[in-house]
Amino acid sequence: KEVKLWGGRFEESVTENVEKFTESISFDKELYRQDIRGSKAHASMLARQGLMTISERDSILEGLSEIERRIELGQFRWRADREDVHMNIEAALIDMIGEPAKKLHTARSRNDQVQTDFRLWCRDAIDRIVPSVKHLQVALVKLALKSGGIIVPGYTHLQRAQPVLLQHYLLSFVEQLDRDIIRLQDCRAKLNFCPLGACALAGTGLPIDRSMTSELLGFTAPLRNSIDAVSDRDFVMELLSANSIIAVHLSRLGEDWVLWASEEFGYITPSDSVSTGSSIMPQKKNPDPMELVRGKSARVIADLVSLLTLCKGLPLAYNRDLQEDKEPTFDSVKTILGMLEVSAEFAQNIVFNKERILKALPAGHLDATTLADYLVIKGIPFRTSHDIVGRSVALCVSKRCQLQDLSLNELKSISPAFEQDVYEYLGVENSIKKFSSYGSTGVECVAGQMEYWVNKLGI
Ligand code: ARG
Repeated sequence: KEVKLWGGRFEESVTENVEKFTESISFDKELYRQDIRGSKAHASMLARQGLMTISERDSILEGLSEIERRIELGQFRWRADREDVHMNIEAALIDMIGEPAKKLHTARSRNDQVQTDFRLWCRDAIDRIVPSVKHLQVALVKLALKSGGIIVPGYTHLQRAQPVLLQHYLLSFVEQLDRDIIRLQDCRAKLNFCPLGACALAGTGLPIDRSMTSELLGFTAPLRNSIDAVSDRDFVMELLSANSIIAVHLSRLGEDWVLWASEEFGYITPSDSVSTGSSIMPQKKNPDPMELVRGKSARVIADLVSLLTLCKGLPLAYNRDLQEDKEPTFDSVKTILGMLEVSAEFAQNIVFNKERILKALPAGHLDATTLADYLVIKGIPFRTSHDIVGRSVALCVSKRCQLQDLSLNELKSISPAFEQDVYEYLGVENSIKKFSSYGSTGVECVAGQMEYWVNKLGI
C-alpha cells in the first residue's frame, strides 16, 4: 500500500471502510480544472518569492498541463486511496516529475486549496447559468412576439380576476428571471475573493505574496482573514439560494403550463417533441418536461437546505464535514441548468390556442373591476362603486349572463350613476383598453415593455 501524503506520523494504514467512507475523489474530481489552475498560480508565486527555483516551477507547470491533458483524454487514473482531487493531482505530479513537485504544497493547505478551487468552480458555474437564464428570457420574449393581441384571463386564487395581455403575462417571467441574473452576478462579485495563502487557518511565516495569486486567478483581492477564508461557505449558500429562487420561478411557470395544457384549460398545445405518452393509456400526451421542472425544483431547494444544515453547528475553522458541500452544489448547478434548458425548449414548442382562449374569456366577469373604476370616474367613492358592481354581478349570476348583457335600465336600477357610455367599459376587449398605469396590462404599456426587452436582449 502506498504511504499517504500525510502518512509520516501514522503507524497503521486506515481500514478499507474508512478509506471508502472518507474519500471524495468520486465526486470532487469535478474540480480538477480549478485545482490545476490554482496550483499553477501558487507555483508561479512561490518561484517569484524565491521559495522554489524557476526550473522547478517550469517542471511543475509542465507536469500539471500534462496531467490536465491526461484527465481530459480519460487517461488519468483517479485513486480512492489518494482521497481527494487535491492529493490525486499532487501525488500524480510527484510520480511524474519527482522532487520539484514536493515543493508545490509549500505555504498551502488543502483547506485553502479546496476553498480556492470551489470559489473558482462556483464562479465558472455562474458564468454558465447566467447565459442559460438569458436564453430562456429570449425564448419567452420570442414567444411573446408571436402572441401579440391575445388576451387571457388573469387569475388570483386561481379564480378569474381581470383580463391581461398574454405578452404581459409572459414578460412577468422575463422580469423574474432578470432579478435572478442580478442575484447571480451579486453572488459572483461577493465570492470573487481569494482564500489561497490562508493555509490551514492561521496563514504562514513564509514570504508568500497573496496578492499575486489572487490576481493570477482573476480574484478581486485576497480575503482579509485567514480563519474566515477556510471556514465559511456563505458563497455556496448564496449560489444555492439564487438557484433555488430560479427553481421556484421555473416551477411556477411549469405549474401554469401544465394546467394550461389540460383539457379543462386548453390554452396551450405543446408539440409532440416536448411531450411524452402513457404506457397503458394510448390516448395520453403529457407535458412531462414542465412537470419535471416543477418536480426538480424540490431537489434544488433540498440542496440549499442540506448545505445550510451542514454548516449550522460547525466550530471554526475547517472541519471535514465541509467536504459534504460539494455534491449538493454540483447537483444544484446541474439541475438548474437542465431546468432552464428544458423550459426554453418547451417555450419554443408550444402554441397558444387563440380560439379556445377567446371562447373562455366571457366567463368570470373579468371586466367587473373596470366597471368599478368607471363609477369612480363618475364621482362615486370606490368602496361604494365596489358594492354597486358587486350587486350588478349578483344580478348577472342570477340571470346567468355577463355584465355587458345587462340593460341600462337594469344597471340604473342598481345605481343612477350608470349612463349609456358604460358599455364602452364592458366586455373583455373594452376593459383591457382602459388600463393605462405604468407597468399595467394596457396595450401601450405592454408594447413599451416588449420594446424594452427586445432591445435589451438583442432579439
Ligand atoms: N477533500 C477535502 C474537502 O473537500 C479537502 C480538505 C481536506 N482537509 C483536511 N484537512 N482533511 O473538504
